[in-house]
Amino acid sequence: MGPVRTEVMWNAVLDAVAATSHDRPLDVLDLGGGTGGDAVRLALLGHRVTVVDPSPDALASLDRRASEAGTAVTGILGDTEDLVEHVDAGSFDLVVCHGVLEHVDDPGQALASTAKVLRDGGHVSIVVAGRLAGVVARALAGDFAGAETLFSARADTWDLRTDGPRRFVVAEIDALLAAHGFTPVQTNALRVFADLVPSALVDIEPGARDALFALERLVRTSPDMAALSAGLQSVARLDLTTAPSDRGVPRATV
Ligand SMILES: C[S@@+](CC[C@H](N)C(=O)[O-])C[C@H]1O[C@@H](n2cnc3c(N)ncnc32)[C@H](O)[C@@H]1O
Repeated sequence: MGPVRTEVMWNAVLDAVAATSHDRPLDVLDLGGGTGGDAVRLALLGHRVTVVDPSPDALASLDRRASEAGTAVTGILGDTEDLVEHVDAGSFDLVVCHGVLEHVDDPGQALASTAKVLRDGGHVSIVVAGRLAGVVARALAGDFAGAETLFSARADTWDLRTDGPRRFVVAEIDALLAAHGFTPVQTNALRVFADLVPSALVDIEPGARDALFALERLVRTSPDMAALSAGLQSVARLDLTTAPSDRGVPRATV
């Protein structure tokens, strides 16, 4: 199921790269890049990639993965909160932040840091867990009280200690991005079906994997499907004329 789970997201990253790069190598930050699955692929495409992650073990695996692939990725021990102490402001063309906002104390702070380290016109690709898919999964498992609790939750009052990893709806991601000067370019529904279909079916039925991948690609830009998808991806562009500015860049007045 691996490629079906990740390739729709990866295609959108490649679109963001194409929109930013005009065929030149990019400076890419993978914030919370973990063991470097995305980072190494981007490095193999010729981009200069930095991973900032608070896990020393993940960074060690990243090093191994990059050298086995015959490429180089810079790994830095850090996190969303101390990011600006480790990398220069305005130094990246693309920030990838996948599967991270679910775990940070303050997603708004993470996006503020992201905006600081991006160049004007640069892109961010965010992937988060979808909340309503979690509601459906709990209800299907018979956990109706859990489904009700999750349905009533909100990302901005989420408590990681009691509620586990945060889950989002599209409007919350859009609002967070807008508050930090980002304009959404594309919203993708990820894993609309892949997490629901039994892997055995996909593995045994001839052609099923390709057909499922085609279906996921078909629905990926549907806002209706995004409401129910297990993963949400937003690719957005930084516009410094509207970004809250604390790095001396003039802002549009209202
Ligand atoms: C689910 S993994 C995702 C890894 C990778 N981005 C991917 O898509 O495969 C979450 C990652 O976020 C990192 N992380 C957790 N808290 C973080 C923070 N405050 N700032 C940056 N990264 C963080 C973890 O160490 C872990 O590597």
